[in-house]
Formats: sequence, C-alpha cells, structure tokens
Amino acid sequence: MRQLNAMVLALSAFAAAAAPAYAEGDPERGEVLFYTCTGCHGIAGYANTYPTYKVPKIGGQNYEYLVTALTAYQSGTRAHPTMRAQGESLSTQDIEDIASFLALEKKQN
Ligand code: HEC
Repeated sequence: MRQLNAMVLALSAFAAAAAPAYAEGDPERGEVLFYTCTGCHGIAGYANTYPTYKVPKIGGQNYEYLVTALTAYQSGTRAHPTMRAQGESLSTQDIEDIASFLALEKKQN
C-alpha cells in the first residue's frame, strides 16, 4: 500500500511537470461532455454497462492519442459505426476538452 502511495505521488509530480504539454483543452468542460460516454466507457474500474460488450480503456490515455482517435472517428477515417456516430457529434473543441479530461484521469486514480 505504501509503495502504491509512493507511485501515486510520483505520478502526480510527473503530471504537474507535464501539465502544460496537454493543457490545450478544458478538462472541466470535458468531464461534463464525457458524461454521455460513460454508458460504454465507464471510468470507475473501466467497467462497461454491458458485460459482453468490449470497449477500449480510454481513461488515462495520452492526450494526443485521444485527440487523434476522436478526430479519426469525427472525420470518418476510422470507421467503427458506434464511435463514428459519437465522433460526428463532437466539435474539435469538444474533442480537446474530453481528451484533456481523460488524460488527467490516470493521475487521479
Ligand atoms: C455505444 C457505446 C459507446 C459510446 C456511447 C461511446 N463509445 Fe467510444 N468506443 C466504443 C467502442 C465499441 C470502441 C472501439 C471501436 C473501435 O474498435 O474502433 C470505442 C472506442 C473509443 C476510442 C478509441 C480508443 C482506442 O484505444 O483507440 C475513444 C477515444 C473513444 N471511444 C471515446 C469516446 C467518447 C469521447 C465518447 C463520448 C462522446 C464515446 N467514446 C462514446 C463504444 C462507445
């Protein structure tokens, strides 16, 4: 447990140092926007509402990775029908805000 705490501390220090690198979006707005995504991408324990339905773990992913993935769904270069429908409804600002929120998740858990 003590080891885990030390790790969390180290991660937080890293997060603080690295923060400007992905400060492009507004994580608070992103958290609100992400509410509609939690049915499939539940953050707590990365649990899914439907046990048989597999979704990628996206909380704590790298900011650029998330922006790239969501932009690909938004533009249609990544063609998964479910996420395409999600991506289409997001603006570039929405994507940046959601990515900022999700990139910070790792450090809080
Ligand atoms: C109906 C269920 C569902 C909803 C709602 C949903 N997703 Fe997804 N999401 C998926 C599935 C399934 C995949 C995997 C698709 C694939 O293989 O391309 C995915 C993939 C992703 C990925 C890519 C992850 C990776 O590792 O490549 C991101 C990012 C993502 N979703 C973000 C979101 C965001 C943000 C929202 C809300 C605006 C959202 N999702 C809403 C089911 C959902």
